[in-house]
Amino acid sequence: MTQPRRIIIDTDPGQDDAFAILLALASPEEVEVLGVVAVAGNVPLPLTQRNARIVCELAGRRDIPVFAGCDAPLKRKLVTAEHVHGVTGLDGPPMVEPTMALQGQHGVDFIIDTIRRAPEKTITLCPLGPLTNIAQAFLQAPDIIARVQEIVLMGGAYFEVGNITPAAEFNIYVDPEAAEIVLKSGVPAVMMPLDVTHKVIATRARVEAIRALGTNVGRVAAEWADFFERFDVAKYGSDGGPLHDPTVIAYLIAPHLFTGRFINVEIETQSELTLGMTVADWWGVSNRAPNAMFIGDVHAQGFFDLLTQRLGRL
Ligand code: BDR
Ligand code: CA
Repeated sequence: MTQPRRIIIDTDPGQDDAFAILLALASPEEVEVLGVVAVAGNVPLPLTQRNARIVCELAGRRDIPVFAGCDAPLKRKLVTAEHVHGVTGLDGPPMVEPTMALQGQHGVDFIIDTIRRAPEKTITLCPLGPLTNIAQAFLQAPDIIARVQEIVLMGGAYFEVGNITPAAEFNIYVDPEAAEIVLKSGVPAVMMPLDVTHKVIATRARVEAIRALGTNVGRVAAEWADFFERFDVAKYGSDGGPLHDPTVIAYLIAPHLFTGRFINVEIETQSELTLGMTVADWWGVSNRAPNAMFIGDVHAQGFFDLLTQRLGRL
């Protein structure tokens, strides 16, 4: 039997982040969650670290260490997304305040220490929000860069272009300098852009399958999906909301569900008009060296079957 991948989830929950955390915690055969690090993104840090603890408690995993990382992007003012996720970031079903403690250590220090202590190339980073914490860890401790096994992240877009601006996807837009550092670091990277996440639509039938689990986790998750869909349904006319972030974890569990291309991806950090755009050389028209596996397609029903089956374990 192969060992589970040892992962750190870096996140700004977010209902779709919550699905990703739950999927990871329900999948111990494939992934071992060493810690969850919150970052400012969808909502400010005091809420994302609170929400991360709510999700761990919902999964019955008060033992998972949750850390607070950076409260603002490297160089810019924080942009948030309450218009998508609600004022708490986890709007939908009423949630009780978490009682499990937040770790005292800074999330960036946790990332650095964990990678330094582990054998080389045995830690996978799973960023589900702006890349601030990861970039900050690389800036503070460049020695860890060569020790990271892989980064599997949700961010960017090529064919779908932008969701927060006409040109940029939210996670990259919020901290483009951080994204640039990560993509230029040389760490093997897999990106889940909107091109693929807009294919995993939580349709009515799929949400009802989750609700029909008949568990507390199934009910809460379905109610999150009910709340989360209104933004994308209104904007794109889709038949439900896209579950962006759990694609990262699903890729670690079932990579055969996904296809992509190993290509060059650069981040726009200068232009006001296209700030945070992921300039993805999908068609290989530049001679710039490939630096990321850019995922373009997914077996959507396979993804939802996996997600639903795993949520049913919690
Ligand atoms: C990304 O932005 C956030 O709103 C979601 O949680 C996801 O990580 C999608 O653009
Ligand atoms: Ca997120």
